[in-house]
Amino acid sequence: MPRSTQGLMDDIQLVDLVGQYRAIQKEILSALEAVLDSGQFIRGPVVEAFEQELAAFLGCRFALGVGNGTDALQLAYMALGLQAGDEVIVPAFTFVATAEAAALLGIRPVFADIDPYTFTLDPASVEARITPKTRALVPVHLFGQAADLAPLLELAQRHHLRVIEDNAQAIGACYQNQKTGTFGDMGCLSFFPSKNLGAYGDGGAVVTHDPELHHRVFMLANHGARRKYYHECIGINSRLDALQAAILRVKLRHLEAYTRARQAAADRYDALLADCPGLTLPYRAPERTHVFHQYTIRIHPEVPGGRDGLQRYLQAQGIPTAVYYPVPLHQLPAFSSWGPYDSLPQAEKAAREVLSLPMHTELTAAQQMRIAEAIRTYLETALRTGQPPVA
Ligand SMILES: Cc1ncc(COP(=O)(O)O)c(C=O)c1O
Repeated sequence: MPRSTQGLMDDIQLVDLVGQYRAIQKEILSALEAVLDSGQFIRGPVVEAFEQELAAFLGCRFALGVGNGTDALQLAYMALGLQAGDEVIVPAFTFVATAEAAALLGIRPVFADIDPYTFTLDPASVEARITPKTRALVPVHLFGQAADLAPLLELAQRHHLRVIEDNAQAIGACYQNQKTGTFGDMGCLSFFPSKNLGAYGDGGAVVTHDPELHHRVFMLANHGARRKYYHECIGINSRLDALQAAILRVKLRHLEAYTRARQAAADRYDALLADCPGLTLPYRAPERTHVFHQYTIRIHPEVPGGRDGLQRYLQAQGIPTAVYYPVPLHQLPAFSSWGPYDSLPQAEKAAREVLSLPMHTELTAAQQMRIAEAIRTYLETALRTGQPPVA
């Protein structure tokens, strides 16, 4: 093998979409060819077949393909009839879209704090923020692990609130043996390419057990019309296209194997990093299946150079990492006009300490050993000498 190729194969990537594609290339190309030959690019039988397969996989009655995960959230807020002046409670530690889709409709995002172990909504913090204007709770199943749904659903029932699950990062995860996204009134999914079920472009879905909500989302995603040119309300244009649906149908068949590969990689990280000083490994809550969209560690504040020092050190060794998320949403300028917001200590602490390591279906044990070795060297040296080591 030429040297240059060997070097490339050893490259560690945060996400390896090309490697994953190569392994299923034939299936993907023939699925794409069938769509190209059909001439049916928007909705049609391939999109409908994917919707049925997705609903069956999750164990819910309906799934509707939409343009992306952000639209899925917006459509869910719209379908529930949430309006300007209403409030929704969302975690402060999530991707911006969870709150942005509400704010765009004039709905006030009220930020709640997170549980420090799972990084998901803290039910006590949610309860403290319920007001007469609160209409819905939005648990986010962050990094591939379910939020603590039982107390959140109980709170919602007691206060007559709707529940929208942001399941963008956790397709296939379970809470008490039921798939996430199927507990609330609606579940929202993203098929952004790097997601556990990723398209080769944008895509998303709204899932529900409720036929009326399913119809409403369909109508709202199609310019407010159930029947073409008979517009009943103001909607948007947000559709999953047939080429993406064809790719997703192929990848859905591999999703359980992909999930097992992620879980195996997470187990290897756990073993390799088990006795490493100065860090906390991902917590796996009982009765929840973690699908490891991310493998996110915390770097303790007493480590010289801290999280950012470790990230720079790894980068210099050719090991990419990412910080999801460096600023909690209640501190973002984008939401300043919706405040003032309380300080949320756990979300703020997580934003300072988290680091997501390379995690994808093609990650090898040898690459993980290299990553773990570099992390261990940094942490042991920094803690022993009191100085961040130079790469
Ligand atoms: C938690 C969360 N919610 C919503 C979204 C939005 O999804 P999309 O990028 O498909 O709009 C994402 C993904 O980027 C996400 O991670």
